[in-house]
Amino acid sequence: MCKECRKGSYYITTPIYYPSDNLHIGHAYCTTVADCLARFHRDLGEDVFFLTGSDEHGLKIQRKANENGVTPQAYVDKIIANFKLLWRQLNISNDDFIRTSEPRHHKVVQDVLQKIYEQGDIYKKNYKGLYCVPCESYWLERQLVDGKCPDCGRPVEEMEEESYFFKLSKYEDWWLQFIEEHPDFIQPVSRRNEMINFVKQGLEDLCITRTTFDWGIPVPFDKKHVVYVWFDALLNYLTGIKYGTDDAFFHKFWPADLHLVGKEIVRFHTIIWPIMLHAMGVELPKKVYGHGWLIVEGDKMSKSKGNVVDPLALIDEFGADSIRYFLLREINLGSDGNFSRDALINRINADLANDLGNLLHRTVSMINKYHGGIITAAGYSAPIDEELKGLIADTAASYIRYMKGMELNSAIKAVWALISRANKYIDETTPWLLAKDPAQQPRLQTVLYNLAEVLRITAILIEPYIPATSPKIYSQLGLAVPERFLLEEAVFGKLADGTKVGQPQQLYPRIEVTEEGDTLIGGKRYEHKAAPAEKKEEPAFVPEPIKEEITIDDFAKIDLRVATVVAAEKVKKSKKLLKLQVRIGEEERTIVSGIAEHCEPVELIGRNIIVVANLAPAKLFGIESKGMLLAASDGEGNLVLADAPGIKSGSRVK
Ligand code: MSP
Repeated sequence: MCKECRKGSYYITTPIYYPSDNLHIGHAYCTTVADCLARFHRDLGEDVFFLTGSDEHGLKIQRKANENGVTPQAYVDKIIANFKLLWRQLNISNDDFIRTSEPRHHKVVQDVLQKIYEQGDIYKKNYKGLYCVPCESYWLERQLVDGKCPDCGRPVEEMEEESYFFKLSKYEDWWLQFIEEHPDFIQPVSRRNEMINFVKQGLEDLCITRTTFDWGIPVPFDKKHVVYVWFDALLNYLTGIKYGTDDAFFHKFWPADLHLVGKEIVRFHTIIWPIMLHAMGVELPKKVYGHGWLIVEGDKMSKSKGNVVDPLALIDEFGADSIRYFLLREINLGSDGNFSRDALINRINADLANDLGNLLHRTVSMINKYHGGIITAAGYSAPIDEELKGLIADTAASYIRYMKGMELNSAIKAVWALISRANKYIDETTPWLLAKDPAQQPRLQTVLYNLAEVLRITAILIEPYIPATSPKIYSQLGLAVPERFLLEEAVFGKLADGTKVGQPQQLYPRIEVTEEGDTLIGGKRYEHKAAPAEKKEEPAFVPEPIKEEITIDDFAKIDLRVATVVAAEKVKKSKKLLKLQVRIGEEERTIVSGIAEHCEPVELIGRNIIVVANLAPAKLFGIESKGMLLAASDGEGNLVLADAPGIKSGSRVK
């Protein structure tokens, strides 16, 4: 039976992370989003399978293990223990954790490879190419941006090896047609357009085996080779749901409903992965969503800057639910977002300690104080109650709509609008005055019931976001904590008459910040280490090795000129590229350069920069670029253009 016919199952995955190092807050962000969606679908009553894991093979890991003087397996085993600890601490509800070094995965990869090989989609050839080790990707010269990897901006290495190739190019037309027929497959839409442009430039066959290292899955038909890490890794999504070993289980969850990935690996998931599946004769996943990146205090995280945020330390200080709430509330999923300690503390104090914490505390206290701790359903309603009930119904409906549309921050904002309204409702209905007048007893009962209902329904709606908080709310309301916080229960009026509430307890302690920037939370002081700018010595900068010697004649072939920028604009749909109109003496020409993340177009106009004037033209994003500008960059995000202020345009640079 196909999955469409069996309603009620939902399969969601995160990327499987590289265990080259411990995970940071960016990885935690992606997994938290996936967890929130998995929990939401469980709360809808669906049968959910949520998979995460680790991508353990490849040259990067092998090199790391060598640097540490241990075997790759020993190296990854240690790091995986930390991955699992983090997911436990963050309350991640994954149903399995797949490791690509496991035998169950080796078998799937080898079987798939053998099948595709036998059907003629794999061939062998000698390959020489430019390889980016951190991204485990080969690139063509024309795809590089300023000679560097277009994905991560780091230097590429020249590598030569005999390899097997997968015939990606054969499927180019099929892919374009598939994407046209499935407009929702790649999301958000901006990423879909990027991928279409990429494929329209021509798909190259994919090199899928390596011989220069051995930390990988052996190729079944040629044991000298190991499988390319991306070909291996993508198949985890099948291994995780028992592909090839338990058909019933596999078909219950495949095709996957959602592969959630970061924007930089959308290409692998929306081009290579679908083509692999199509070649295997396996149905395609329903959706790939490329989320934005988290930056920290406005800056890209990097080890050398010392600003990599350790999620375990944050959880220890603020608690898992606070971190989860911040990530899910503050960041718009499709866009890049900022993680800042100040913003985190503000959110915890304002939203969790004040809005939600106070609503619960006030409500449970008043039920105890004015009504003997009992919630009574019967009473007397006023028009303001109808408005509140209407808002509850609207909130639950818009919450579900937003969640289904992956607008996680809008969904939780809607819940907070209800919480704020309920706090205002207390001030407007003044239960403390009603309690003084016995004639107002029915009215008091209704007000208290309505408030308890808002809290019960809120507890259901927030469970995917802050799962440790919902049971606390239920307990204080005197309700048994259910196994699942089902959304069908988020309807006004289901709170049983006569429920006896518990004692009010503080849900979230307020966070005080000392002058030194330390935090005081629940009587404990947490030292806040100095801001990254002032801390840690930068590790010594290791420049790229100097290239092989050339003669003065070789150098003389390069015609360097002073060029004046006369116009500059961003290349549409590219984050990295700027299109410059430059004048070299009398001649005007276009140069496309990957400096958009470093320079504003308007700052360039009128500047005299230095360009390689006799470089063969190349097409980038469909624009012909004649020449290349010179810039110094250190691979850490710093870039300065080489320029020649005051020197006439067209002058030679020697
Ligand atoms: N192993 C591959 C994925 C293979 S999936 C078949 C890989 N691993 S990774 O360790 O580099 O993890 C990349 C993913 O981690 C990103 O796609 C993203 O989901 C998450 N993030 C890593 N840094 C991030 C931020 N700074 N911000 C948000 N997410 C980030 O690529």
